[in-house]
Formats: sequence, structure tokens, C-alpha cells
Amino acid sequence: MKKANNQALVIFGASGDLTYRKLIPAVFDLYMNNLLPEGYVVLGVSRTKYTDKEFRKKMSEGIRQFSNFKDTAYEKINDFVAKIFYLSIDTENGDDYALVKEKLSKLNDKFNLQHNYIFYLSTPPSLYPLIPKFLYGQGLTIQEKGFRRIIIEKPFGHDLQSAIELNKLLLEFFSEDQIYRIDHYLGKETVQNLMVTRFANGIYEPLWNRNYVEHVEITAAESLGVEDRGGYYDNAGALRDMIQNHLLQVVSLVAMEPPIKNTPEDIRYEKMKVFRALHPLSEDDLKNNVIRGQYTASNIRGKHYVGYREEPGVNSESRTETYVAMKFYIDNWRWAGVPFYVRTGKRMPTRVSEVVIHFRPSPLPLYKHEDGENKGFNQLILRIQPDEGILLKTGMKVPGSSDKVKSVNMDFHYSELTDHYIPEAYERLILDCMQGDNTLFMQGEAVEETWRFVQPILDYWEKHPEAALYGYPAGSWGPDVADDLIEGADNTWRYPCKNLADDGIYCEL
Ligand code: BG6
Repeated sequence: MKKANNQALVIFGASGDLTYRKLIPAVFDLYMNNLLPEGYVVLGVSRTKYTDKEFRKKMSEGIRQFSNFKDTAYEKINDFVAKIFYLSIDTENGDDYALVKEKLSKLNDKFNLQHNYIFYLSTPPSLYPLIPKFLYGQGLTIQEKGFRRIIIEKPFGHDLQSAIELNKLLLEFFSEDQIYRIDHYLGKETVQNLMVTRFANGIYEPLWNRNYVEHVEITAAESLGVEDRGGYYDNAGALRDMIQNHLLQVVSLVAMEPPIKNTPEDIRYEKMKVFRALHPLSEDDLKNNVIRGQYTASNIRGKHYVGYREEPGVNSESRTETYVAMKFYIDNWRWAGVPFYVRTGKRMPTRVSEVVIHFRPSPLPLYKHEDGENKGFNQLILRIQPDEGILLKTGMKVPGSSDKVKSVNMDFHYSELTDHYIPEAYERLILDCMQGDNTLFMQGEAVEETWRFVQPILDYWEKHPEAALYGYPAGSWGPDVADDLIEGADNTWRYPCKNLADDGIYCEL
């Protein structure tokens, strides 16, 4: 892989959790994979006071816990953190950004950074409008001698209007090709593999449309609750936290047309067409085809789990959803009439993300399912995590019977490719930005389009606070009513287990 040019990564919000758990371990992984350029430094910027030494110590601990190379010798980690620096400023005060400029200029001269800087915004969103403006005020966004790029963490906006405003504001100080809006799902190897599976193989694509696909199901379930993020989450909810971004991105990769070339522009163009084709939700859809839930207290394997409303930072009367299941359509030639079902939830029985393509049953029902149901046998499951892989379900003769068919699995697991290193999402995305490749980042217009699609749901819930919010016990698969969303008497959601091929059995709770 080609190495990037010399450069600095400037992380705003460096004292926060993301830097510690994800960003620095990801940069360390790049270092271990020999993908960092000769001249490379990280400058952490935050309000908290740290010396370089203290910050390096904290980052070393993060690496020890979260890097893919966590067992590396101390010397190696020390060599790496020696190129991490820290600057404490009042991030809300524009004048303090002169200190950032001065520090970068010194680092630039010392490490020959060639004036190339990436600014990473890992701060509370209230700072998103300020930091670009202050950087601009110091001339730090102008690409005269080197490149200047900005990575922005989610949430990108709180609703459609704020996303539009944020885009507008960013474009006053940076051009679109300098802006990298991150969605870490797109950095996942298996999410990228959705496109490869579809377009590198000749056998799937002819079937990948309304003629052969009955419906598409996408799940992102988490066993964790809101942990220590109650304050943030209670203002966000599952729709904003997962559906508007991660899951609609996955939908676009499942539904898009083949790009004419494998270039960022062509891929983004095709994804954008999917967002534009999302069928606007009607009043009836908002009432009946979007289901929200909130987890309640329960005992799982002898351990007590509190309900969402008892979580720290959460309002005790909160009506924020920790679960959403919805049904919608895509209005284009390929998908007209095919329902897409998407669901996500916290405190589900297991952590699993997957896409299930349900193919139509054979046109003539000559055979019956061994359990008497008359449903299709073919599903293609694209497992995003864990036990990443692909599973194809096929009907086979039940040995000894004349007309009974059972469903069997053909499965491939990524772990079988043991000789390949699989980068973490952040590692991949930071490297892409270093190399100036924005394929896996979100375009401003696309983000607005996804907000445009979910905004009516937010409006509906605001206008109808009495709209049902179903409680579901922690450790369950969410409200039962979500099963009724799925068309077809015998159809339900797939209830996946931790292991891709274990299904149709009672999974661990
Ligand atoms: C984040 C959400 O963007 O994605 C979290 O804010 C969620 O609430 C996380 O837990 C899920 O990511 P992953 O990679 O664990 O599936």
C-alpha cells in the first residue's frame, strides 16, 4: 500500500474517550503496520491540562487496552508516543487558536511535516461550528503549501435543519473535498465487502432486484445499554444514533446500482441516488411502520440490569427510544415494491449486525418445508459483526422423505482467511483521509438526504408524544409488535445468534 505524505494529525477533544479508545490505538496500528510516513506527529488539543508526558502515558494505556497490537513491547509503544504532543487551550476562545498555529509551525519545522495537517473534531457537537471558524481565522484551512483536511465525528447535525446549517458553515471555511464526515460503519471491512460481494461476483447481481428479492432485513443489535453516555443518548435516541447514519449507509450499499467505475465520485453518486429514492414516509407509515421501544429492567443470567430510565444521565421520565424497527420502500426500478426492514436496539440478547436478503420462494410450491410452512428457502446473510462472513440458505431434501425439504447452510467465515490482517474501522478511515481518499466518508448532500428521510419521524414523535413507546425487557429482542411489521403470514425477523451459522436454535440470552 502506498505510504501517505508527511503530515500531522491534530485531534480536538483529545482528552475524550474516543481518542483514548479508538483514535490513538488506530494510529498506533498504522504505525505497527508500517503505514505512517517518516514525518508524522499527533497533536492532541483539549481544554483539560496535561503535560506531553501525562498525555503520552494516558495514550499508552489506551494502546495497551484497545490496539490490535496491544501486546507489543513497551519500547515500541514508547517510540510511537514520543511523537504525540499535547496542547491545552480554551477551545471556545478564537484567540487561543494562535497557540495551535504556533505549535504546528514548530512541529512542522522539526519533523518536516510539509505543512500537511488533518484536523480531527472529536469534541461535543457544540464546538463543530466554532473550531473550523477559528482555524480559518488563523489561516490554517488554506492549502497553500500543504493539504488541510478536516474529519468530523458524528452526530452530524441533530436534525435536518442543523445538518444543513452545519454543512453551510463548514463550506465557508473548507471546500467539500477537504471535509471528511466520518461514519465508522463504512470503515468496517465487512461493510465494504457488501459492495465487493455484489459487484465482484456475477451470480448475485442478476437476482438482486424486485423480481427475485422478496424483502431485505437489516439488523444492528447491541447487548450493551447506554453505558456512561446517558446524557448524550437521551437527547439522541436510536433513530439519530444508528439509523440516520450507520444503517442508512448500509442500506445504500445494499441497494445501490453498480458504479460505472470504482472511484469515489462514481460510488458516492450511486449511493446518493438511493437516498434520493427513499420513499417518503406517509402519516400511515409513521403511525404503523415505525416502532419504537425502550428497555426496561430485567434479570439476565442471574444478573440485574437496570431499565433505561434508571441509567445515569437519563431523565427518569424519558421517552427516548433505545430501539427502532421500521419498514420502508425505495422508489426506483430495481426495488419498487420490495419492503426494507431495518431495526436496531440496545440491550438486545447479543451483539450482531447483519443484512439478510430474502429471496422469493420458487414459483411452484412442489415441496413443503419440513415444519409445514410454505415459505422461501433462500436467504443470503451478510454478517457485518461478529463472526463476520456470508451464509447462504438453501432447501435440501430431508433424507428419506419424498417431498419434505429442510433448510441447510453454506457458510463462509472471514476468520478462515487467517493470513490476512483486518484493520479496525478507524484505522482504515484515518489512513484513507491521510491519503486523500474520501470514498468511505459521507458527502454533505448525502447526509442531508438521510436526515430528510428521518425528519418526519422525529416530527411525528414530537407532535404525538403519546405515540406508542413499547417497553421491552433488557436482554430481549425488543417489542413483539415488531414482528407484525414483516409482511407474509410465516415471516418474522431472523433471530440471529453470535455465531453466523447457529440459527433456528435457542440462542444465548
Ligand atoms: C456509535 C453509536 O456510532 O455506534 C453507539 O453512537 C453504538 O451508540 C456504536 O454503540 C455501535 O458501533 P459498533 O461498531 O460497536 O457496531
